Amino acid sequence: MAFERVGVVGLGTMGAGIAEVFARAGLRVIGVEADAEALARGRGHLERSTGRAVDKGRLTAGERAEILGRVTLTTAREDLRDADLVVEAIPEILDYKVSLFRDLDRVCKPETVLATNTSSLSVTAVAAATGRPGRVVGMHFFNPAPVMRLVEVVSTVVSEPAVVSDVTELAGRLGKTAVSVGDRAGFVVNRLLLPYLNHAAVLMEQGVAGRDDIDLAMKQGVGLPMGPFTLLDLIGLDTAYEVMGVLFDETRDRRHAPAPLLRELVTAGLLGRKSGRGFYGEEQARSCAPG
Ligand code: 3HC
Repeated sequence: MAFERVGVVGLGTMGAGIAEVFARAGLRVIGVEADAEALARGRGHLERSTGRAVDKGRLTAGERAEILGRVTLTTAREDLRDADLVVEAIPEILDYKVSLFRDLDRVCKPETVLATNTSSLSVTAVAAATGRPGRVVGMHFFNPAPVMRLVEVVSTVVSEPAVVSDVTELAGRLGKTAVSVGDRAGFVVNRLLLPYLNHAAVLMEQGVAGRDDIDLAMKQGVGLPMGPFTLLDLIGLDTAYEVMGVLFDETRDRRHAPAPLLRELVTAGLLGRKSGRGFYGEEQARSCAPG
């Protein structure tokens, strides 16, 4: 199946990044948000990200205009009726996703492939909410979506092999590398990455080292582009906390128990870059001060 018109539902950091990736690859994109305010935020993400690329000389102003011109923003899900593929990137709450997929199944033409960008929730559960479970897969991008090369293509026990192979091919057309993964909490990357990030918060709470030293140690000692606390702020502490909760629920392995400090920061609304403050930020939470 040739994907030419794609929908992206949810235009937060990830959704807007995914919309940009599709538009850069020449596809027509319909970006859907719940209300005008959220839509304006999504437009802001797209404009800033492509504007930065122009400033850095990576895009010309004309190319940027073409990319933005390929994206239509709307609050009406009905506008997705003719999409060949819809990627969902709404908050990580299974009930929201299940209800959205029921609606997408009603709105979209029968051939539309429905994909979720979930970080850790069950793709099978959202597939089962539709009348086309064989045409539902996971398409998991990484933050920042325009930069990170990987897409995890998640298949379930009922995914049609042709759909999985079409989505894998599409990832290549987007300039991404696809890996094929099964529907288990966290898939591959988050299953390995998030326990490491969570453990960094535990080490800091135990007083083994402070925030800056832990970040520096992992950057310089392992050659990672970002230390764990910088990366947690990028991913979003709420997302990290939710993923850990799902990993813990599925594995019952106490090494996957979300760090109490993560919970505290999320409860206080310190979510990382998206809220302006997390482990880093203008004003540090006392418990996060470098020790
Ligand atoms: N959107 C678009 N482009 C961005 C961007 C963003 N948010 N952030 C950075 N970039 C671009 C820059 O414009 C620059 O592009 P250029 O090479 O064309 O000039 C390029 O990325 C490099 O950026 P910088 O020079 O500003 O900064 P760095 O060299 O420090 O790179 C980084 C930034 C790419 C984010 C790098 O630090 C990195 O790779 N960090 C690790 C990110 C990571 O691990 N992501 C995965 C998280 S897990 C996840 O997402 C799963 C989820 O389910 C939780």
